[in-house]
Amino acid sequence: MRVPVIAGNWKMYKTAGDSAAFVRAFLPLVAGVRGVEIVLAPPFPSIAPVAQLVKGTGVGVASQNVHFAAEGAYTGEISPFMAADAGATHCIVGHSERRQYFAESDEMAGKKVRAVLSVSLTPILCLGETLAEREAGKTFEVVERQLLAGLGAVSPAEGPRVIVAYEPVWAIGTGKTATAPQAQEVHAFLRLRIRRLWKDAAASVRILYGGSVKPENISSLMSQADIDGALVGGASLSPGSFADIVKFH
Ligand code: 13P
Repeated sequence: MRVPVIAGNWKMYKTAGDSAAFVRAFLPLVAGVRGVEIVLAPPFPSIAPVAQLVKGTGVGVASQNVHFAAEGAYTGEISPFMAADAGATHCIVGHSERRQYFAESDEMAGKKVRAVLSVSLTPILCLGETLAEREAGKTFEVVERQLLAGLGAVSPAEGPRVIVAYEPVWAIGTGKTATAPQAQEVHAFLRLRIRRLWKDAAASVRILYGGSVKPENISSLMSQADIDGALVGGASLSPGSFADIVKFH
């Protein structure tokens, strides 16, 4: 069985102090929760303090991005090893905001997934189509291209360590959620495509949905066969609403 993952992507919100205050308020709200993996993805300066505060609770900490090199003259970047050293357990790769505003390519996402696995962090590979691509009937073509580029260098044995997040760009921060059947259709397609890559290992890959997930819509999304969790932006910024999402059942 696939253990659901609920991950909060804080994007460029919260100082280290704000992040610590969140964790202190959030942990008691989810103390009794079992059978769900919780991950928090704070900005870089908050990784170490958040990791310190969640130690021993089972809550994971994700870096929102990394460079694919182990080290080097790359001003403004951090390596996967540095993220792990700060206490990260996961790393988001290829978020649509990275692709859109920082020109990240499919090829870079593939390199980053490899680099993240090499330091034993769990990659959360994001993919998803824009509104124009959906309206042009290109959704499956786009997500397949992003998936194959992201996972192309991963072996079937490593496959189950990877988390995939389907985040339709038109649903991010817009309040416009994909309907549960709309999301399920793409998730089922992704799993089928992963099965061609990794055979039976595809059954254990968690595929998360992201895009305007809220306490009100999490249950219907989670009721779908191939939706194994959520990558939450806006609604992960408050301890109460994120805890309500974590407690979806
Ligand atoms: P929202 O939940 O704010 O739509 O953001 C989704 C997202 O981009 C998570 O990575």
